Amino acid sequence: MPTIIDGKKISAEIRQEVKTEVSEIKARGMEPHLAVIIVGSDPGSQVYVRNKHKACEEAGIRSTVIEMPETTTQEQLLAQVEKLNQDKTVHGILVQSPVPKGLSEEKAFESIHPLKDVDCFHPQNVGLLMLGRPRFLPATPAGVIELLVRYNIKISGQYVVIVGRSNIVGKPLAGMLAQKSERGNATVTVCHTGTKGLAYYTKQADIVIAAAGRPGLITGDMLNSNCTVIDVGTNRIPDATKKSGYSLVGDVDFESASKVAANISPVPGGVGLMTIAMLLKNCVMATKLQS
Ligand code: GUN
Repeated sequence: MPTIIDGKKISAEIRQEVKTEVSEIKARGMEPHLAVIIVGSDPGSQVYVRNKHKACEEAGIRSTVIEMPETTTQEQLLAQVEKLNQDKTVHGILVQSPVPKGLSEEKAFESIHPLKDVDCFHPQNVGLLMLGRPRFLPATPAGVIELLVRYNIKISGQYVVIVGRSNIVGKPLAGMLAQKSERGNATVTVCHTGTKGLAYYTKQADIVIAAAGRPGLITGDMLNSNCTVIDVGTNRIPDATKKSGYSLVGDVDFESASKVAANISPVPGGVGLMTIAMLLKNCVMATKLQS
């Protein structure tokens, strides 16, 4: 049986660490404050935003959720961001993705003040990250690396195959892992849904990170027996046996992959919980940057 990488346990540790740091910050007279903007009624986003709000409150971080209707215009969204940019009591701002069709997510991310950009989506912060001078770390990639580090899984010198090239996960994670740094120094290949002969790459990998948004994309026969598999997929598939009507599955076929891999992260209970924990860390960082 492989080691199951327990995101629930590690994220709880981090949340506790953040809570301690928040108490210290509060003792110095500051109150970390995150503002989350959610536009429209995407059901997945509503769950994420609720979870972020709850996690903030548990860590002692003030959280304000601003709900804007589906009919919001680009100008109204940018005006709301600007209001929060100007608000000295707000340290972190996040526009939940996706935004409704017709609105530009890119413009919204770029309008956030770079010192309040706790998602690390602003081009200035992405640039600093890629130059090896990070201000913030993007939450999901940072969560993946934190899991590897806390499970003592070697990164330096290892061959990492990332499957997925999104701006949120694949691209920044590749840069972070290849960086000559304590938590990097890996040899990285970025594969994606257009890669010919995906198994050729994954079979050689010491670490496979699946972040393509395709349920069951990675199966046991595509892996080697000493590898570590990190599943970043969060795919909702219809499931009549569930009260919610859906179940959450990753990009990895857990049943076959867990028979081959040495270490594997499950969905749910893996990376998803880490994303929120790392976001809380960025809220603390943003508060310090603005003090
Ligand atoms: N939607 C899914 N993941 C994320 C995230 O990390 N940040 C934001 N803003 N939206 C998301």
